[in-house]
Amino acid sequence: MTRKIVAFSAGKTNGNTETYIKIALEEARKMGCEVELIRLNSCDLRPCKACLNMPCMAKGPAGCILKDDGAWLAEKFLECDGFLLGSPVWALGPAGVVFDFKDRIFGPKTDVAAKELYGESEWMKGRTQYRPGALISVGGALTENWTALGLPTLYTVTFSAQINIVDHMNVTAVADPGEALTRKDYVLRARYLGQNLAYAVNHPEINWTKKYLGETPEEEACPGCHSSLLIAKPGRDYVECAICGRKGYISMPDGKIRYEWPEDNGDRLTVQGKFKHMREIAYHHDEIFAPIKDTVSEEYERYRKMNDFIVKPLRKDA
Ligand SMILES: Cc1cc2nc3c(=O)[nH]c(=O)nc-3n(C[C@H](O)[C@H](O)[C@H](O)COP(=O)(O)O)c2cc1C
Repeated sequence: MTRKIVAFSAGKTNGNTETYIKIALEEARKMGCEVELIRLNSCDLRPCKACLNMPCMAKGPAGCILKDDGAWLAEKFLECDGFLLGSPVWALGPAGVVFDFKDRIFGPKTDVAAKELYGESEWMKGRTQYRPGALISVGGALTENWTALGLPTLYTVTFSAQINIVDHMNVTAVADPGEALTRKDYVLRARYLGQNLAYAVNHPEINWTKKYLGETPEEEACPGCHSSLLIAKPGRDYVECAICGRKGYISMPDGKIRYEWPEDNGDRLTVQGKFKHMREIAYHHDEIFAPIKDTVSEEYERYRKMNDFIVKPLRKDA
């Protein structure tokens, strides 16, 4: 059976992100995978309205009140065996369409822990699959910290549906159209990334959760998601990985930072981690908010009616 990789690009048409994605897909195709590339910027994808009754939970993206390409994109995701997402860096993080893609296609409705707790919704029946995935972030800046939120934010797209990231690459100093190909190191890296993703896709018998096939440069802190974006609050002896939430204990034996990361199956990259979070949400709703909800109902009503300074856009339907 031919297995399919679908790549989603938030980059410019024929831009640097798209070039690296095409290099990766070319390799995956050589390894027998069917490949497709979707340009998110060619799609009509509007921001999620966070409806209170969430029709998309029961009916899937086809039940969304927004009639755009959301349902088609969700189908494209559900039919793939491997997932590739790439974006240029805009002001430290990915382009805005990545956020809409995350909010509209993923989140609670595709959450694998929700399925474990509450059962599979009708529209998802038999379609839950833990897919291997890969990420490509492309920044133009020479200073790496100008790309700091690129890969971490791309990761946030992948948690809910348990897309297991087997490789990722962070490109810096590739800015102008056509420049991608001048960096032979990144071209090779993109080829390896395509091969790693294809290998994982061709081996569905392996559980790819937290199995990383990319290079593991020692300077990256977290051994789970291979990122160094950390929450480091004063007065603590540990940091938390901003992506997976795992705790790393700090020491400086020779004046250099060292981390010790005890195994933690409660992190967001695992189904158990999301399971824990689902219960946390239910606990908060039932045990913390519900008993005191009425204590603020009058005040809430006052703010609900305080609309005299709301300014609406000029469209008639706004
Ligand atoms: C609005 C905007 C903001 C940008 N901000 C950053 C940035 O914060 N850091 C960075 O490294 N590059 C930044 N860049 C440069 C792009 O990431 C870079 O040109 C990239 O190669 C574009 O990829 P593409 O050809 O796939 O669109 C920015 C570009 C634009 C258009």
